[in-house]
Amino acid sequence: MPVDSTRLIFLCFLVGTILSGCSAPETESSTEVEANYNVDLDVANLMSLVLEPASDILWDSGGWVLDAYGYEELYPTTDDGWDFVRAQAAIVVEAGNMLALPGRAEDDDAWMIYSEGLSRAGIMAMEAAQAQDKEAFFQAGGQLYSVCTACHQSYSPDINNRVENIAD
Ligand code: HEC
Repeated sequence: MPVDSTRLIFLCFLVGTILSGCSAPETESSTEVEANYNVDLDVANLMSLVLEPASDILWDSGGWVLDAYGYEELYPTTDDGWDFVRAQAAIVVEAGNMLALPGRAEDDDAWMIYSEGLSRAGIMAMEAAQAQDKEAFFQAGGQLYSVCTACHQSYSPDINNRVENIAD
């Protein structure tokens, strides 16, 4: 810790006996902030172990597929089924925050916008699942997909081909 902030805290301690409160120094160095989070999982692991499985369930739970019996609806048909996809959407919401953590975020610019976009798409999906609104749920899935591809386009362009196959 820089000497200055140590002094400031000491000063706060002294003055604090007289005044009602004293706020901590405003700026913490980024290494101090990072120490509060465990970011052992790298972005690739977070993608393949946390975000992708949850997103896959969302995509597999919306729309229709053509099979031997004709068009089959993929949407959940029970309250439990909707609760389950809502929980997957909650993972997507939080994955947005996980990506934005110091130590994972690749910059303080577009990366943060895509991470926030991920959370927002997850919220849309959660709300749609809560309302059991198929149309809104399908829209949320599309929104989610466009956030994945936009971020990959910027930060890891070769991933897009692989993810497209997954989403099909
Ligand atoms: C904020 C940016 C960002 C968002 C949003 C994002 N990704 Fe990624 N993703 C990356 C980066 C960067 C990599 C490459 C990581 C590496 O190889 O180090 C990656 C890699 C992947 C991989 C390959 C992982 C591996 O094992 O190599 C998959 C699968 C993936 N993402 C799925 C998704 C899905 C599905 C979504 C949306 C639901 C998504 N990603 C959203 C940045 C993002």
